[in-house]
Amino acid sequence: MTDKKRILTGDRPTGKLHLGHYVGSVANRVRLQEEYDSYIIIADVQALTTNFDQPENLSRDTLQIAEDYLAAGLDPRISTIFIQSMIPEIHELAAYFGMFTSVNVLRHNPTVKSEAQQHGFSDMTYGFLGYPVSQAADITIFKANLVPVGEDQIPHLELTRKIVRRFNDLYKPVLVEPEILIGEVPRLVGLDGKSKMSKSLDNAIYLSDTTEELRKKVMDAVTDPARIHKTDPGHPEICTVFAYHKVFNQPEVAQIECDCRQGAIGCVACKKTLIACLDGLLMPMRERRQQYVDNPGLVKDILWDGTQRAHRVAKETMAEVREAMGINYFNPRSNG
Ligand code: TRP
Repeated sequence: MTDKKRILTGDRPTGKLHLGHYVGSVANRVRLQEEYDSYIIIADVQALTTNFDQPENLSRDTLQIAEDYLAAGLDPRISTIFIQSMIPEIHELAAYFGMFTSVNVLRHNPTVKSEAQQHGFSDMTYGFLGYPVSQAADITIFKANLVPVGEDQIPHLELTRKIVRRFNDLYKPVLVEPEILIGEVPRLVGLDGKSKMSKSLDNAIYLSDTTEELRKKVMDAVTDPARIHKTDPGHPEICTVFAYHKVFNQPEVAQIECDCRQGAIGCVACKKTLIACLDGLLMPMRERRQQYVDNPGLVKDILWDGTQRAHRVAKETMAEVREAMGINYFNPRSNG
């Protein structure tokens, strides 16, 4: 047992992680993993809320995201990375939470609404509408104190806190109300300069991109259309490349802004500086990734160990939950 506070966070396995995920949440997880007892959930059941007709992708995407986490710097000796579907107690707890959670509250959840729209669900399934309840179980079964996530998760965390208060009030104060931690850059713009970075919009730089892929993506990015000649004064506030300098190249950003406004640096030179800087971020990730590529069983072993560890914690909390609710028929400690 450790007296460190606990983190629980994670993602749906639906594809490769990109820089938006990194600055929105993954960098926080890496930074905090020594200070907190960290649990990272690969929410494969939640991924089925939108991909239930393609279960064959789940195991590939689960291994992919685990490899991305490890490449990004989550250390499996200190962070527990595990698979949601392998912990049936989470679904048991979600069933109990479902008894006192209002359907209307779920219907009005802004993230659920915008995802439903994005996926064209005019008639939401029971599982999709209820996934924030299951997410509350993911978090509370680990008695997490802190949840580092992107800003789209705020409504889910508010619901989780409400569920904890309600549960503790109805039964016994067993569960912990978690705090939310939003990343430094909650919304990284995509390469198109228009929307947030996302796989479905094909505007992302992936943590697994090679130097060549990165170079091509940055070179093709749109800059200030008013700059024809490199001596034309630029407008960094409307330039996607500059937006990335602001996030990833803090030591040089002030100089770049000044040079761009004066027409003292051309877009090609500015892009090359950014490529070097991003490549410096991705290079150690590529090196870490290589050991998993060379050793394909390793990621599965790490997930197996993490899932066993997580399962032990989940079983302990569920024993307390059942005891608090008085539904533990065969335990000699229970009443009756
Ligand atoms: N809803 C999160 C996402 O879409 C994934 C997730 C599932 C999660 N369970 C969680 C995040 C628990 C934080 C805590 O990315």
